[in-house]
Amino acid sequence: MADAPYPELKKTHTMAHKGRPWTDYKPPPAAAVWSVIEGFGSYHLLLAALELDVFDTLDRTGPTAIGPLAGEVGASEPHLQALLDSLVTLGLLEQYCSVYGLNNTAERYLTSRGEASMVDLIPVAPGPHGNWANLAETIRSGRPATPIDDDPAAFYVPLVEGTFTTMLRAATRADLMLRYSSQVAPRVLDLGAGGAPWTIAVLKACPDGSAVVNDLPGVLGVAERMTAEHGVWDRCRFLQGDFHEVALEDGTFDLVVLGHVCRTEGEAGARHLVERAYSALRPGGRVMLADYFVDPERRFNRHGVLMGMTMMTSTLNGSPLSNEQVVGWLRDAGFRALRLIEPIGFQFVYVATMPR
Ligand SMILES: C[S@@+](CC[C@H](N)C(=O)[O-])C[C@H]1O[C@@H](n2cnc3c(N)ncnc32)[C@H](O)[C@@H]1O
Repeated sequence: MADAPYPELKKTHTMAHKGRPWTDYKPPPAAAVWSVIEGFGSYHLLLAALELDVFDTLDRTGPTAIGPLAGEVGASEPHLQALLDSLVTLGLLEQYCSVYGLNNTAERYLTSRGEASMVDLIPVAPGPHGNWANLAETIRSGRPATPIDDDPAAFYVPLVEGTFTTMLRAATRADLMLRYSSQVAPRVLDLGAGGAPWTIAVLKACPDGSAVVNDLPGVLGVAERMTAEHGVWDRCRFLQGDFHEVALEDGTFDLVVLGHVCRTEGEAGARHLVERAYSALRPGGRVMLADYFVDPERRFNRHGVLMGMTMMTSTLNGSPLSNEQVVGWLRDAGFRALRLIEPIGFQFVYVATMPR
């Protein structure tokens, strides 16, 4: 058979249709992997800067050149410069030539006197740091080697001191959406109150309100101290003990607060707290269940998903809480008129009413 006059490729197999083999393949960028690797260092940069008092020093001195700043904080100049340049790339400081200063984020969140200071929260927010290093073993065995449950007061005292400012802001802002301040003399029940930010917000807004404030032995003292500092101590009764077991008056409270207590308790424990809240409320009363919730697809609310992982890293029963689960517990207990509010960024609260 004679050759074709010229060789021809089948049209559907040409590069015009298929792209150039190998070379047209665009690999995915490694940025996602690098950002995780850098996450480890980034957290420690921030911890070091807080330990060295960098933000409070700049708050006091104003923008300062690296030489004098190294003298102020007592650090090696080239090392401090590397630290500060890293913080600049993370968006946590301003820099011009060798002069460093606070930006708005640092001023608000990273100085001790910042309006929304997170200074005390940053070291404690991930839970005990050592538990992260053992995460693979925790995942294998389903149990952290040193859960915070072994010594709750040692963990929770610094935690609730650290989270207080943020939670008080959330609780105070929540009034814009909930109008608890319109209640004349509300009775509040605050289970696992920590520093009692919710009680303080409500009692400051309602001069005739009163509260029963519960927490574990060793932690309840923080609530006593904070309520005293905010001038509402005399309107609180302090109830020490396990919130699953302490005796509560049924049908008498206007507001029950479950502030960041459900995600350590597991399904059965959290349900039980919701049921206790329901029994304690009078008809028309409301529960406020603040926590970090995972979206139904478990991948869009990164903060919720990671906070769930944080729980599993350091507690025996802690787990991520999904919006669906929480809504189910509230409805099953008998609550109606469910709302989800976000009084400040990253802080979500379910509010639900006991029917009249
Ligand atoms: C994450 S903190 C939340 C504190 C506060 N409600 C808030 O929203 O800021 C959890 C609190 O629950 C308390 N807690 C944990 N287990 C408890 C239990 N079984 N009984 C009473 N309180 C408990 C802890 O001591 C801690 O103060």
